[in-house]
Amino acid sequence: MCRRFDATRPVADEVLDDMLDLATRAPSAGHTQGWELLVLSAQAERRVFWDATRTDGYPDRWLEGVSAAPVLVLALSDPTAYLDRYAEPDKGWRDRSTERWPIPYWDTDTAMSVMILLLAAQERALGALFFGVPGALHDRVKEVLAIPDRLRIVGVVALGHPDPVRPTPRSPSLRRGRRGVERMVHRGRFGRH
Ligand SMILES: Cc1cc2nc3c(=O)[nH]c(=O)nc-3n(C[C@H](O)[C@H](O)[C@H](O)COP(=O)(O)O)c2cc1C
Repeated sequence: MCRRFDATRPVADEVLDDMLDLATRAPSAGHTQGWELLVLSAQAERRVFWDATRTDGYPDRWLEGVSAAPVLVLALSDPTAYLDRYAEPDKGWRDRSTERWPIPYWDTDTAMSVMILLLAAQERALGALFFGVPGALHDRVKEVLAIPDRLRIVGVVALGHPDPVRPTPRSPSLRRGRRGVERMVHRGRFGRH
C-alpha cells in the first residue's frame, strides 16, 4: 500500500479508464455485478470527500500523504441488486430475505473489484491504498457526493504515482510479519498441516 502520493503527477485518463474497465470484470454472485465505482479525479471533487471525512485526531501525516493522491475511487456495494437478481426465476429466492446470505456477497464482490484495481495499479507501477471510511461518516459522505442511500461504502482506493522524494514509511502493522502458509493453510481438517 502507498500512503504518500506525488501530487504533481496525475494518472493518465487512458490508464485510469483501462483500470476501471478491468474493475468492472470482477466475478460476482449470480453475475449480479452489484457494485458501483465513484471516481473522484478533479481536485474539487476530492476536496468534497476529504472535507467530509476530516476528523480531529486522525493522523495528519496520513492525511497529508494520502490526500495528495490524484484519484480516489469509492467502492460501493448494492445489496438490493443481489436481492433482485436472486428473486429471478433461475434462483427463486422471492422473499428477498437477507437471511439467505450468511456472507454478504454484495460486499465480497465489491472487494474483488477493488482487488483488481490494486493489482492493476501494481502492474502499472502506480501506488494504491485501500482504506475504510469510519462508520460514523458514511451518511455524511453519501450526502455530499449524492450517493444513493441503498449503496454501502465498502472502502476507497487512492491511486497515483508514489511520492519519489518521500517514500511511504513501512506500516507499523507490518511488524506483525506474515502469518505464513504453515499457519494459514489447513489440509484435510483443522489441526493438521
Ligand atoms: C479491509 C481493509 C481496510 C483497510 N483500511 C485501511 C485504512 O483505513 N487506512 C490505511 O492506511 N490502510 C488501510 N488498509 C491497508 C492495510 O493497512 C495494509 O494492507 C496492511 O497494513 C498491509 O500492508 P501492505 O498492503 O503494504 O503490505 C486496509 C486494508 C484492508 C484490506
